[in-house]
Amino acid sequence: PVEIRISAPGKVILHGEHAVVYGKAAIAATLNLRSHLTLKTRLDSMIQLELPDVNINEEFSVAALQEGLQSIDCGSVHDPIPASEEVISLIKKFAGIDIENNETRMLAIVAFLFIYYGIFKEKRELPAISVYIKSDLPVGAGLGSSAAFSVSLAAAILQFAGYIDSIKEAEGASTWSTSDKRKINNWAFLGEKVIHGRPSGIDNSISTYGGALRMQNGEITQLDKMPTLSVLLVNTKVPRSTMTLVAGVRQKYNLYPDVMEPIINAVEAITKRTEDLFKFSADTMSPDDVKTLGDLIDLNQNLLNAMGVGHPTLDRIVAAAKKHGFYSKLTGAGGGGCAFVLIPPDTSDSHLQYFNQDLNDQGFDVRWKTTVGGQ
Ligand code: PMV
Repeated sequence: PVEIRISAPGKVILHGEHAVVYGKAAIAATLNLRSHLTLKTRLDSMIQLELPDVNINEEFSVAALQEGLQSIDCGSVHDPIPASEEVISLIKKFAGIDIENNETRMLAIVAFLFIYYGIFKEKRELPAISVYIKSDLPVGAGLGSSAAFSVSLAAAILQFAGYIDSIKEAEGASTWSTSDKRKINNWAFLGEKVIHGRPSGIDNSISTYGGALRMQNGEITQLDKMPTLSVLLVNTKVPRSTMTLVAGVRQKYNLYPDVMEPIINAVEAITKRTEDLFKFSADTMSPDDVKTLGDLIDLNQNLLNAMGVGHPTLDRIVAAAKKHGFYSKLTGAGGGGCAFVLIPPDTSDSHLQYFNQDLNDQGFDVRWKTTVGGQ
């Protein structure tokens, strides 16, 4: 039996969420929290998807799948096309999911079947496999758990089907060539589209390419330089849907373009200033640079509130951070989910602990002190 193990990281968007949907730049960096996938061949003729984090354990017969999905068009392995509404409905029908059900966990099953079928359909037969994915990332909290799911899935299936080759690195880790990463990212983006509707692609790109990225109009560039930032990730535990939040901003934009345009442009200016700041700062930022970065974080949080993607719980995190002399903003789609708090390099452990306690007392989940960026 063949076994493939792959992991893909989550991310924080530092600046540019939502604005990126309107062609503005966004910057994001990977987190050291990942989704871990195991793909195994099976001796029976079933395929299985197991996602214990969201209580999914589904099995489908290969023969039924071959029969049920034969009419769907997903392009070719090297030039795939996104799943249309009709294709999504057909897969939902096949999987016994209600057509109206757009829960992320259900759409993850649709994305799995689409990626599996799309990649294997050019082979003579569909293989019996089981796919198990467990994540360090909280689900649906803006840290890119669905992108890490789509990326690890696309990578595992492309690799199993022989379309990409993993390269062994030092310490047993594996990676792919740039052209293989492009293939993984293309398929992962299609998975993200099934799950989120019309995502910008920033989440799957950062999860595929790693490091720190700038993304604009679908184009990805590695940031020239990014200092190592220490951040605290705080989960409001308020569930939200990226699709709904993006649609809400779009509705406001359509109603009040003259008001929304300047807000989105101001976010873009913040992203640019942050990039410039990174370019000229040392790997450990000076107190002055930390203050500027903090001001920009604060300004962006206010603009995101103006766009309508804030939440009272996020306001409370930002207020608690301010009280302790820190800066914080939501990350990802907002409306709940996670915020990050920038922790200046000279912060003492006792100060951090005191802040942590304050957030815990308010019922927040402060599980992750992590670093982002660095070279
Ligand atoms: O799904 P999240 O929470 O990581 O948010 C993605 C960022 C948005 O800009 C809100 C949407 C997008 O597609 O870029």
